[in-house]
Amino acid sequence: MTRKKIYAANWKMNNMTAETAAFFAAFGDRCVGMADREVVIAPSFPYLAQAAALAKGKNISLAAQNFYPAENGAFTGEVSLSMLVDLGIRTVIIGHSERRHVIGETHEYLRRKVSFAQQKKFRMIFCIGETLPQREKGELFAVIDHQLSTAFDGNLSCSDEDLVIAYEPVWAIGTGVNATGAQAQEMHEYIRKFMGKHYGRENITILYGGSVKPDNIAELMGMPDIDGVLVGGASLKADSFGKIAFWDKG
Ligand code: PGA
Repeated sequence: MTRKKIYAANWKMNNMTAETAAFFAAFGDRCVGMADREVVIAPSFPYLAQAAALAKGKNISLAAQNFYPAENGAFTGEVSLSMLVDLGIRTVIIGHSERRHVIGETHEYLRRKVSFAQQKKFRMIFCIGETLPQREKGELFAVIDHQLSTAFDGNLSCSDEDLVIAYEPVWAIGTGVNATGAQAQEMHEYIRKFMGKHYGRENITILYGGSVKPDNIAELMGMPDIDGVLVGGASLKADSFGKIAFWDKG
């Protein structure tokens, strides 16, 4: 089975009304009729409705950067999956390193989010990755095993299409120092084998994230187990993100 390529933009806490409008205007119809790849944009919550309107008919998917794993109710400041469904959105990012390390989301909380997203038939982009000290101490594979097992053991019921993993080494996020193609490939191959062995999921889409730029996309996408990318800084403007999402189109 050929895995569809995914180019995902994680805008984090950036891009407001004007930037969102400018991005979609500049991106235009580039994705229309394109079947070999999917472009996904994850704006921050206040701009999701605007982005949803602008993405209509453009063959661009939207994702939410976060949600709270409950139906509705007294959860001040949180956003439910039903609200996302209301906007036509069915992809969520879970486990991003900033939510793990800056906001303090725990393995147990991430497991609840994985479970709830599946229950509601959302597609998840589940992020994992080691810190620099963990890599230097040779703990990287153990860290990845732990992040995957705590989230997924006894907790996976979705289709392969609804499970996307993003390998994002923490030391590469926003630092300008990307993992080399060889470093990323080594880990992607490991993740694919792990997901095959433990969950029968060797065919899932695995993205790389961490300082992806127009000038390193070709090397990364040339690796057999890299099925796409999750891009932060270089995704904020249509020009650089276009050079990433259409890197092979000249
Ligand atoms: P970056 O962020 O591309 O700015 O390194 C990637 C991410 O955090 O998803």
